[in-house]
Amino acid sequence: MQDKLNIKGLVDARHGKVKPAIYVDEDVYQLELERVFGRSWLFLAHESQIPKSGDFFTTFMGEDPIIVARQKDGSVAAFLNQCRHRGMKLCHADSGNTRTFTCPYHGWAFGLEGGLTSVPLEEEAYRNNLDKSQWGLIQVTRLTTYKGLIFGNWDESAPSLEEYLGDMAWYLDGFIDRREGGTEVVGGVNKWVINCNWKFAAEQFCSDQYHAPYTHGSAIQVLAPTPENKADGKPLGDGQTQRPAWANGLGGVQFSENGHGSAFFFTEKADANVWVGGEVSNYFRETYPEVEARLGRVRALRLAGHNTIFPTLSWLNGTQTLRVWHPKGPNQIEVWVFCIADRAASDEVKEALKQSHARAFGPAGFLEQDDSENWVEVQKVLRGNKAQQTELCMQMGIGFEERRKDGIPGVTNHTFAETAARGFYQRWVDMMTSETWAEIETKTQEYQEEIVRG
Ligand code: FES
Ligand SMILES: [Fe+2]
Repeated sequence: MQDKLNIKGLVDARHGKVKPAIYVDEDVYQLELERVFGRSWLFLAHESQIPKSGDFFTTFMGEDPIIVARQKDGSVAAFLNQCRHRGMKLCHADSGNTRTFTCPYHGWAFGLEGGLTSVPLEEEAYRNNLDKSQWGLIQVTRLTTYKGLIFGNWDESAPSLEEYLGDMAWYLDGFIDRREGGTEVVGGVNKWVINCNWKFAAEQFCSDQYHAPYTHGSAIQVLAPTPENKADGKPLGDGQTQRPAWANGLGGVQFSENGHGSAFFFTEKADANVWVGGEVSNYFRETYPEVEARLGRVRALRLAGHNTIFPTLSWLNGTQTLRVWHPKGPNQIEVWVFCIADRAASDEVKEALKQSHARAFGPAGFLEQDDSENWVEVQKVLRGNKAQQTELCMQMGIGFEERRKDGIPGVTNHTFAETAARGFYQRWVDMMTSETWAEIETKTQEYQEEIVRG
């Protein structure tokens, strides 16, 4: 199918060009479900959401509904949330604790480990001839936990999660491994719908620091820094009176590898860009020495920054938002947002984190709304025939990629660049056009070596 769709012709990462059909075409989307979501490591749940035997959490892998369940032996398993009788969605709850999942249609019941355990009227209806062992739930093929985050993958031949993450794990650790004991999800999951393609959201969190001074201009004015709260702690100079330090381009890094991306600015303050001050700022200042001892100075201070693990898991340090962009057709996503806190934090701090998270990046958050407005408007423009054929520019910082020598890993560039967007779409096109993982990895590696060589 990809030959007919001419996928290769839609993305030219080496020259920074992309065609908008990738955001609207139904056939492209169906191929994405198979080749991207059917083969990538996808975030399913946080371990803290299902601590006890029988705890479960329901989510999606692409558009496939999934049940994640804590087993009797303490391990975690995940299943397609589809009854094997006539295909009904088996579990309709968001989360809970159970010994059995019973289908609301005709009452087939499945155990925690996915086996079909009970069939109503088995003797009368099936004459006792139904082989129940053949009709258990479909189990997610691979399941791995990384520091509390549970990931699943349908593809047996996919690389291990550690290989898949590569250097992105270094950046992820800066979010989930700051303190002894790791992290937990605080509160429930905020869910809402945005009428845009999943790649707009994932790409922006992967790469786009460039939008921040402009898109978030009103928030920046409201939160204009004083000499005391400015990120680098130095007196305000010319041109710095209305913008936080990161918006003045103090220098920073954009990372790109295997489709993942991250960008941040260097700061000198442990609570820079927490946005709300008070309890949360105090917490980041007080825990700084411990975090620096664990992670080193750069990661302990890198609160300003955005990140995406390809394809749809994103987070922001400091505001503590972790989110999944679940695709719902080419023109819509359902955003699932989790507030992440260090497990070792006090209850008061966790409550303060939850509130600061909601104020900045909850559904009505003052930064959240700025972002999604852009994606929705772009998607509306793409209803136009001419608009769908217009090539879009992705050339920022092209040719300036490097590998740093200061311990910050990966293919990097200045933070105002589209290096990670190009890497994101290169991985996307590599997955869409490759039959095997070996092929995908060879293509991605060739691209990365080529752009760093220049
Ligand atoms: S569809 Fe589930 S029991 Fe019939
Ligand atoms: Fe933003």
